[in-house]
Amino acid sequence: MMLLKNAHVVDYISDTDSKLDILIKNGRIAAVSDKIMALGAEEIDCRGLVAFPGIFDMHVHARDPGQTDKEDLLSCAKAAAAGGVTGFVCMPNTVPVIDNEKTLKYINTKAKAAKVKVYPACAITEGQMGAVICDFKLLKDSGAVAATDDGKPVKSARIMGEAMIKASDEQLPLISHCEDMDIASGGLINAGLVSIELDIYGSHRSSENIITGREIDLARDLHVPVHIAHVSTAESVAKIRAAKQAGIQVTCETAPHYFALTEDLLYAKDADYRMNPPLRLGRDVDAIIEGIADGTIDCIATDHAPHTPAEKADFHTAPNGVIGLETSLAACLTFLYHTEKVSLKDLVRLMCVNPRKILGMKGGSFKPGELADITLFEPNTEWEVTPKKFKSKARNSCFKGMKLKGRVRYTIVDGDIVYEI
Ligand code: DOR
Ligand code: ZN
Repeated sequence: MMLLKNAHVVDYISDTDSKLDILIKNGRIAAVSDKIMALGAEEIDCRGLVAFPGIFDMHVHARDPGQTDKEDLLSCAKAAAAGGVTGFVCMPNTVPVIDNEKTLKYINTKAKAAKVKVYPACAITEGQMGAVICDFKLLKDSGAVAATDDGKPVKSARIMGEAMIKASDEQLPLISHCEDMDIASGGLINAGLVSIELDIYGSHRSSENIITGREIDLARDLHVPVHIAHVSTAESVAKIRAAKQAGIQVTCETAPHYFALTEDLLYAKDADYRMNPPLRLGRDVDAIIEGIADGTIDCIATDHAPHTPAEKADFHTAPNGVIGLETSLAACLTFLYHTEKVSLKDLVRLMCVNPRKILGMKGGSFKPGELADITLFEPNTEWEVTPKKFKSKARNSCFKGMKLKGRVRYTIVDGDIVYEI
């Protein structure tokens, strides 16, 4: 039994935003109210701490199996716990690709030892090759919670449409990485002023926008849902907003770097600022924030994409991707909450409620009976992002050296403290 005393409890679902005590029994929320007395309970003084109902990150590359020099399920789960993330979905672009029962079994077995909850996504097409659609029923029965070829798009609209129907039949959420590979054509950064000035081959924003539009059209014509990963452009936000208004079943996520950073950082020619989609312009940042504030963007996920320092050493040949699990809450607080664009309650909607809702999972509230997945943090404490202190194996943070405001103090999963400072 554990009693969290005097926490600033923020719950979107029950519309709560006040100082309360939280009683945890047998791994579940037993009560949330004023001045709870519980003899024999382990008490935690939560004065000054905000309590969220467990941050859930629906887009994480854990690199396991096959690329465990970058990260593995257990190091990734430690990084998640340190970031206040109580559960995450791991992406299938591993080696081998998560497109079979055996790999799902490997992940689910290893994940039992992880500090936080790990849910694998399977590929949309075998080997993520874009040709043969995976057996979604089999993979869902083996534990996959979503299907995605993330890392690349499904090139053929016909195959994507078929996959959307099959996934919908199995009630398996389908996540699209929106990129037209012909247009992107190996571009390293956003095509624009910076790419021209630095004489670096750029990937045009229409590469994202065209496929976002394609997925929306497919969802409309086929009457099936689709989730758009890592939205980064103003045009994508506008298309998704219009689609939602038209009743099309589209949901989407963005990542902290898309509302906090712009392509100017690329002047440093440091591959830690390179990810796909790339950092865009100030007007994109504004549009992303507007989309977050008005509900067009459903959730915030990190796209945590670990790579080794050796791989990231050369700007031109480094793989795309940045880590994010240990900075996501602080970045959200710094660039959304402290700037008064988004309330704490709406952050709960974006980080705790909607990711679970999109995946058809329980949780994301402090309702008695829910599993006690809780993130406790100091909202105003400033700290400097120092990648060498990360629990992640990787160091490729695009927030490195920056001061962020908001520090995780405790991460609780099923009533157990899995991280504390
Ligand atoms: O930057 C990225 N890194 N974007 C992706 O789509 C894939 C990811 C990775 O796996 O490294
Ligand atoms: Zn990704």
